[in-house]
Amino acid sequence: MAEKATAKTAVLQTETRIFEPPADLVDNSNVMQWMKKKGFKTEKEMRSWCSENYVEFWDEMAKKYVDWFEPYTTVMDNSEMPYFKWFTGGKVNMTYNAVDRHAASDKKDKLAYIFVPEPTDQETQKITYGELAKEVNKLANGLKSLGVEKDDRVSLYMPMIPQLPIAMLACAKIGAIHSIVFSGFSAKGFGDRVKDCEAKVAITTDGFYRRGKAMPLKAQADEAIADAPSVEHLVVYKRTGIDVDWKDGRDIWWDDLIEGKSDECEAVPLDPEHRLFILYTSGTTGKPKGIEHAVGGYCVAPAQTLDWVFDIKEDDIWWCTADIGWITGHSYIVYGPLVLGCTSMIYEGSPDYPDFGRWYKIIEDNKVTIIYTAPTAIRMLMKQGSKWPEKYDLTSLRLLGSVGEPINPEAWIWYRKNFGADKLQIMDTWWQTESGTFINSPLPITPLKPGSCTFPLPGYNATIYDELGNEVPLGEGGNIVQPTPWPSMLRAFYKDTERYQKEYWSVYWDTPKRGTYLAGDKATRDKDGYFWIQGRIDDVLSVAGHRIANAEVESAIVAHPSVAESAVVGKPDEIKGESIVAFVTVITGVEETDDLKKDIRTFVRKSLGPVAMPSEIHFVPDLPKTRSGKIMRRVIKAQSLGKPTGDVSALANPEAVETIPLIV
Ligand code: WTA
Repeated sequence: MAEKATAKTAVLQTETRIFEPPADLVDNSNVMQWMKKKGFKTEKEMRSWCSENYVEFWDEMAKKYVDWFEPYTTVMDNSEMPYFKWFTGGKVNMTYNAVDRHAASDKKDKLAYIFVPEPTDQETQKITYGELAKEVNKLANGLKSLGVEKDDRVSLYMPMIPQLPIAMLACAKIGAIHSIVFSGFSAKGFGDRVKDCEAKVAITTDGFYRRGKAMPLKAQADEAIADAPSVEHLVVYKRTGIDVDWKDGRDIWWDDLIEGKSDECEAVPLDPEHRLFILYTSGTTGKPKGIEHAVGGYCVAPAQTLDWVFDIKEDDIWWCTADIGWITGHSYIVYGPLVLGCTSMIYEGSPDYPDFGRWYKIIEDNKVTIIYTAPTAIRMLMKQGSKWPEKYDLTSLRLLGSVGEPINPEAWIWYRKNFGADKLQIMDTWWQTESGTFINSPLPITPLKPGSCTFPLPGYNATIYDELGNEVPLGEGGNIVQPTPWPSMLRAFYKDTERYQKEYWSVYWDTPKRGTYLAGDKATRDKDGYFWIQGRIDDVLSVAGHRIANAEVESAIVAHPSVAESAVVGKPDEIKGESIVAFVTVITGVEETDDLKKDIRTFVRKSLGPVAMPSEIHFVPDLPKTRSGKIMRRVIKAQSLGKPTGDVSALANPEAVETIPLIV
């Protein structure tokens, strides 16, 4: 009992600034149109009604956003908890909703994608919905000719080029299940996942461009599938023209596969619980979890959340900068925007090629209206200073977004100022691979507090429990949970039901809150009910009896004007339990002095209080990160304590691990 009560976390920082949405944004927003139609007077009233009546709400949204081949008979079925089902009894196809119906309408000539290659001497490519439909159909017919059938798994290991969504949509059309592995993963990373999902076909490219160079990709794919006996064929899209090894009988060029294939292909009507894809995500054990998502819910929720949160209008140019290999790309570059029939950017390369002006130039050239990116990217650009954004015309932008980790108020303000002319609202969306869609997020009508993902969206019921399932009072923290199911929720782990039940459902199973989803993050709510995500459950420090989220200390450190990034770990301490050790990178040009260390410590003491003051600060050139930009505290902690770091080859910058000093 005593131990369980410590699930609560301390709230140290209170943010007092509020950024009200401008009246025209509110008045013209999609959500406001709906509120007026329904007669809701306030945002609060609307959010509460939709969340309490979530089944009715999603029923309406499912009918609004999706064309069903056969109508569903049950909106939500919870008879086999924790295996929830949505929209059962119906028939649906993702690609029909995402592409075919637009290609058959007056959206036929509207752009689905604007593709910006990394090499600056290659032209931007524009792909209409009509063209996309044909490319998808040819590949779908090609896959069929290789023997791919409904339920077969197809592994995709491809860079950020339009052929990746084309391959996803081709699979979805015929009921094959795609499993994308981020192309930055090593051969081993790809191999483990291909083997786990027993893919029949894999698709890759000869290579890809990174910082101006053509880099090999097929070579890694070859190594990965050499001992993956399930893989009968490897389809290879020629992106760079670099030399590749070839295995006759197994390998086939994409262009040869689609040569002579019909550009028409029937969409297979699927049970809404049919698996649309498997996406692997890392868990606490190091063995990746194959998260399964279902087609019915996925047709509905990414589109609905995108439409309401980012307020998509007919002429918007939407840019989600994530890689399609992550959930953010699945939901908000491919399925959400396409179901809405909107125009999206795809950029192949890195933000600093040929220089740090690249992203701003892409916005200017393509008149991007909404950008959605990650705090790590914002901090990287922030480190380069305002001189880059000042060179470009960013006035086409009308809304900003953030995802992936808590955005520290410092970066939030910089983002608003430098991308948003000091006036654009920032949608800080909190969600996960498991959730498939945003769970907590502002709407265009929401007053913002920098660093807060505000409230649960309509149709979601996220709240904060202690470990016994009691809701914690405002002003306190605990586990962020979802007590009710939602359409785009994960359905299972591929071939690992036990772990699925244990990781997400076991904590509250024997409480009155059975069926509550444990998200794995710590969060607090302030007196106004705003949510503040504090980081993962296992990323919480225990200092002198206080539970303090690593992320909160990091945010305070990063707010120091000389600091670029920081990672905080707990060092075992006889008296305090743990003491706080911070690894810090400084802004370019700042000198790493002892005085600065002192200054940072005082700075944190002032903002969070003495309990959160790091006892040690170490300057490092770089912090080890995942490919999606998450700082790998676990690795940093192991390295600094002289423990094995495990396999770090999947990191974006494995060499950074060596530079972390020992602290014991
Ligand atoms: C973290 C990415 C704070 C969180 C969509 C979550 C965030 C994990 C936010 C999921 C945010 C994501 N504020 N933390 N706005 N968004 N996270 O599966 O810890 O790659 O559990 O999905 O990222 O990461 P994943």
